[in-house]
Amino acid sequence: MPISKVMIIGGGVMGRGISRLLAGAGIEVTLVDLSEEIIRESLRHLSEEMDSDIHKWGMTESEKKAILSRIKWTTRYDEAPKVDLVVEAIPEDLEAKQRIFAKLDEITRPEIVLISHTSTLSITEIAAATKRPDKVVGLHFLPPVTKIPLAEVVRGLKTSPETLSIIKEFIEQHLDKTVVTVYEYPGYVTTRIIVPLLNEAMHVLMEGIATAEDIDTAIKLGYGLNIGPLALADMMGLDEVMKWMENLLHELSDHKYNPCPLLRKLVRAGHLGKKTGQGFFRYDEEGNKLGEADLFPR
Ligand code: NAI
Repeated sequence: MPISKVMIIGGGVMGRGISRLLAGAGIEVTLVDLSEEIIRESLRHLSEEMDSDIHKWGMTESEKKAILSRIKWTTRYDEAPKVDLVVEAIPEDLEAKQRIFAKLDEITRPEIVLISHTSTLSITEIAAATKRPDKVVGLHFLPPVTKIPLAEVVRGLKTSPETLSIIKEFIEQHLDKTVVTVYEYPGYVTTRIIVPLLNEAMHVLMEGIATAEDIDTAIKLGYGLNIGPLALADMMGLDEVMKWMENLLHELSDHKYNPCPLLRKLVRAGHLGKKTGQGFFRYDEEGNKLGEADLFPR
């Protein structure tokens, strides 16, 4: 069955990126979020992200227009019976994801695949909210979605081999990403391995060993990475990073996943990184880094 219409639930950092990726591949996207105000903000962010790429000669105005023309923004689920695939990308909260899946199961065609974009939650538990657990699969892109060439496809206990191959083929052929198949386990591969690095960088900062800028420069240049751990955490969203750590801590009972107190402090203050303009660094409206945030005012 060809996949030409996709519904995305949640237009945050990842949902927006996935919408852009799919629309760029010629797919009609319906993006659902909670309110008109959130939708306006999401559209503004997406538009600015593309403007920044146009500025760097990474895309053209007409490509931007074509992408936006293929994304329909809504707070309603009217299109659900017509879509060929759904990608849920709401925040990392099991009960909220299960509620969405129970609803999707009722209103979408029974033969279509339902994807959860999650970093640490159990696909089997999410799938249990539906009557089609064989057609529920996990997917994990990394931000910025249009630029990172990797997708982890996550197999829950009941995901069928057919579902896996439909999604794998779709991603490899239409979205031009390399797919790694992982079995359901907290954090899969990428989140499980990156999170302790991010947390350790936060401890190094909190202990006053080096500035945020120097920590990022040391790790970037020292290990040949294209982004430092603190800027990466800011880009991912500090609230999301904290939720991943709490889920990993809960599932694996290993203290290495205990979120650094500095991370907790920033999340409590609503300084969530790039998306709020401040985290370990400060950012302008377009997400360009302005400098270090003052985390220890005296
Ligand atoms: P976000 O917080 O940036 O965006 C979530 C969006 O979902 C918001 O626009 C919110 O209004 C919307 N939303 C919340 N409840 C909703 C509902 N019931 N119906 C419709 N929309 C709803 O979150 P982000 O960062 O995009 O993460 C989404 C998922 O992707 C999470 O499960 C996260 O763990 C995962 N992920 C995030 C990565 C990152 O770097 N941020 C990387 C890989 C996975």
